Amino acid sequence: MKAVKIGVLGLGTVGGGVVNVLKRNSKEISRRAGQEIIVASASARDLSRKRICDTTGIHLTTDSFEIINDPEIDIILELIGGTGLAKDLVLQAIENGKHIVTANKALIALHGNEIFAKASKKGVMVLFESAVAGGIPIIKAIREGLSGNQIQWLAGIINGTGNFILTEMRDKGRDFDDVLAEAQALGYAEADPTFDVEGIDAGHKLAILASIAFGIPLQFDKVFTEGITKITRADVEYAEQLGYRIKHLGIARKTDQGIELRVHPTLIPERRLIANVDGVMNAVLVQGDAVGPTLYYGAGAGAEPTASAVVADIVDVVRVLTSDPENRVPHLAFQADAIADIPVLSSEQIKTAYYLRLNAEDKPGVLAEVTSILANHNISIEALIQKEPIEGETTVPVIMLTQTTLEKEMNAAIIEIEALSTITGSISRIRVETLG
Ligand code: HSE
Repeated sequence: MKAVKIGVLGLGTVGGGVVNVLKRNSKEISRRAGQEIIVASASARDLSRKRICDTTGIHLTTDSFEIINDPEIDIILELIGGTGLAKDLVLQAIENGKHIVTANKALIALHGNEIFAKASKKGVMVLFESAVAGGIPIIKAIREGLSGNQIQWLAGIINGTGNFILTEMRDKGRDFDDVLAEAQALGYAEADPTFDVEGIDAGHKLAILASIAFGIPLQFDKVFTEGITKITRADVEYAEQLGYRIKHLGIARKTDQGIELRVHPTLIPERRLIANVDGVMNAVLVQGDAVGPTLYYGAGAGAEPTASAVVADIVDVVRVLTSDPENRVPHLAFQADAIADIPVLSSEQIKTAYYLRLNAEDKPGVLAEVTSILANHNISIEALIQKEPIEGETTVPVIMLTQTTLEKEMNAAIIEIEALSTITGSISRIRVETLG
């Protein structure tokens, strides 16, 4: 039987990992796929660079177009990242009748609707398991394993760099910048690390997860994103004293009004398994109406964990190479003509509970003023702690947990509280989810 030939665009961390895994596990992989899989060509910007993989026998080029235009290549692995050149290459490769496997979450989140439409027209597959949560087969789980369910919500730690930073800050008291530099050195962080710490990378991944969970088009532009840069050591400590952990979560929830799509730091009860997912590990909790809660855990970044998902996609493509394109698993889990137009809610329509930290003057009546503003906005207080004054300061930190409320009401209440003469500085607000 003819071997399937792969062309790899990008021989960085993930590309190198894929070459290594395909080589090391080649026998096992072809026993599974039913055909031999060969990396025939690979492109890289700088061919003289030292690689993590052995490239013996692979045709190397700096010109990715040479690979996508090569009639001998069956499957293109797009591992160069970004949404410029990568998009042009993928669209041209599809035009040329190649199947695509990509780890590029930004590309799928921003241009997936266009890419899948073109791929369906050309009868080729575009698989992207490694784009979300690295080595965890979460796309396959939601798209196929849970296809009997109505997915009600999902919540995930889907950025390893952010989770690594929060974990190191909490456990070792390390500085933000120092941990970020380590994540970059380990190859976890994005080329632009603001994508990790400002929640953009997680937003890309959440848009993809929501799409396959609810059968809606990819809508990254409607994801509310807030990063981890404003989280302080004090917030981490106070959260722990209240029995919570702070995690950077991507949350997608279907409500009667529409779909919430949001990425932000979140207090979650420390007894939840997902609250104990540390370091660069990722986890996604999915609530289906039939199955109940299911939790998927594993390495969210790194050469071989990501390669594990890329290779699984290659095997999937190889298995269905000769099948009828009309009867394959749809790109976004639901049949293309059954994608629904459910509204995505604005951030003001989100309903959640809150952790608030404010600096208040230590004198009678201050808390009464604050609580009456909250009451006027129909916001109920769940817990309230006044901490001892910080040395040299005239104010005291006050920490509150509220019950679930509309974000619009909380926004208005915060503006009024910050305007009080007895409150100093801005209020730190972190959303709280029980994930029960
Ligand atoms: N920068 C990403 C992360 C890599 O830290 O999770 C995997 O997508």
